[in-house]
Amino acid sequence: MLIFETAQAMQAWCKQQKKAGQTIGLVPTMGYLHQGHLSLVQEARRQCDRVVVSIFVNPIQFGVGEDLDKYPRDLSGDCQLLEEAQTDAVFAPSARDMYPEAYATFVEMEGTITNRLCGASRPGHFRGVTTVVSKLFNICLPDQAFFGQKDAQQVLVIEKMVRELNFPLEIVRVPIKREADGLAMSSRNVYLSSEQRRQALVLSQALQQAGAIIGQGERDPAKIIAGMQTRIESAPEARIDYIEIYRAEDLADIKQIEGKVLIALAVKFGNTRLIDNLLVEV
Ligand code: PAJ
Repeated sequence: MLIFETAQAMQAWCKQQKKAGQTIGLVPTMGYLHQGHLSLVQEARRQCDRVVVSIFVNPIQFGVGEDLDKYPRDLSGDCQLLEEAQTDAVFAPSARDMYPEAYATFVEMEGTITNRLCGASRPGHFRGVTTVVSKLFNICLPDQAFFGQKDAQQVLVIEKMVRELNFPLEIVRVPIKREADGLAMSSRNVYLSSEQRRQALVLSQALQQAGAIIGQGERDPAKIIAGMQTRIESAPEARIDYIEIYRAEDLADIKQIEGKVLIALAVKFGNTRLIDNLLVEV
């Protein structure tokens, strides 16, 4: 497995691969890898000749007071997992290499898809994501790029950006990987105390409960959200950031549950902010 630390070296290798007729699958990550990330790598391995995984804790997608400095890192552990998952190349640049002094170019999406949910709670977050992902696409030249449904809004933003900026590649969505008890896997789960970890189960339970009552015929988003809120508030340490339901395709408002809808939530346990979601089709 090759490890590249500069955009220049990474791009040169990717160009070579393309010239030799190899397809490239890119899995962008911020590292501290878990089975959720690895399910993206496996999917890339299945679909592409060359698999590139980027590991970069992207400073510009973190807001002031967020967990950039504390974000968990373990490059050598990550590389070991990626080697076992038959990754061809890891791209692990420094922040200075990605954003040299006086760096000034950003990709920004306007409108509903970036303003709601995490976009409302984390101003500037998606500008950081669209900028770094555009750079990663230009550096790694993927035919396909793999994103998790865990970050449902992020994958919507990236799909729209790819369409609107005509990036010549396909976005592949990979389902949410969960712990045996239902908690969505996340690099941030390590921050939870054992008590918070136990309480965090209410998130997947609330989503499951919402799916079940929709299955029984409930169509009023407000009632579904109220039920979820009660369930989540039964966990003493849970502080709800948002619980919202939108049309899945574009995060438009809905009055009734119909077609494909996204039920999304963000909840803090102490300083740890967890997100989870469920796509429902009726
Ligand atoms: P990160 O949080 O490291 O996630 C990298 C990718 O792994 C994302 O596409 C995310 O949706 C996916 N992922 C994380 N947990 C998952 C789970 N439990 N099941 C399935 N997929 C999961 O998302 C980012 O990094 C960054 O914003 C990035 C896109 C790399 C840009 O900096």
